[in-house]
Amino acid sequence: MSQETEQVELLSADQRQRIDKWLAQYPSDSSGRKSAIIPALHIMQDDNGGYLERNHVEAVADYIGMPRVEAFEVATFYSMFHLDRPTGRHKVNICTNISCWLNGADDLVAYAEQRLGIRQGETTADGRITLVREEECLAGCVGAPMMVVDGHYYTHLTRERIDEILDGLS
Ligand code: FES
Repeated sequence: MSQETEQVELLSADQRQRIDKWLAQYPSDSSGRKSAIIPALHIMQDDNGGYLERNHVEAVADYIGMPRVEAFEVATFYSMFHLDRPTGRHKVNICTNISCWLNGADDLVAYAEQRLGIRQGETTADGRITLVREEECLAGCVGAPMMVVDGHYYTHLTRERIDEILDGLS
């Protein structure tokens, strides 16, 4: 049995079915199939409690029929994918790039760290929240300072607003 076959076998029938739905939306040639890599990685990540292991990325690449290295390029480029390390149920990402920084993001990060008892890049002991590491502009400058929580944008942040949002997470 080849290594590729072994990795594809990691995909459940349900996961294959969901990936097939995405594959059906793109041209069936090899470049078209590659377009399904992002939703396919999301499927694997969601099913794995919020992070990807190497063999998940390899399995998806093999199933789609794209070079594994290209799948890893995608998985490591986008900050919405979390590799090799378990994350909390919720991912809180406070933007600290220029517009947000000028509007007090550093203070908000320090506040969130103190409130949660963790530093950026860490997860609370109860596994509830991961404070995502600093990264580039999150494309919400008009509402700076802002953060993204589980894919949802929250703008014009204050300490009070952060309290409200964090309190609302299960
Ligand atoms: S700098 Fe924070 S969203 Fe652009």
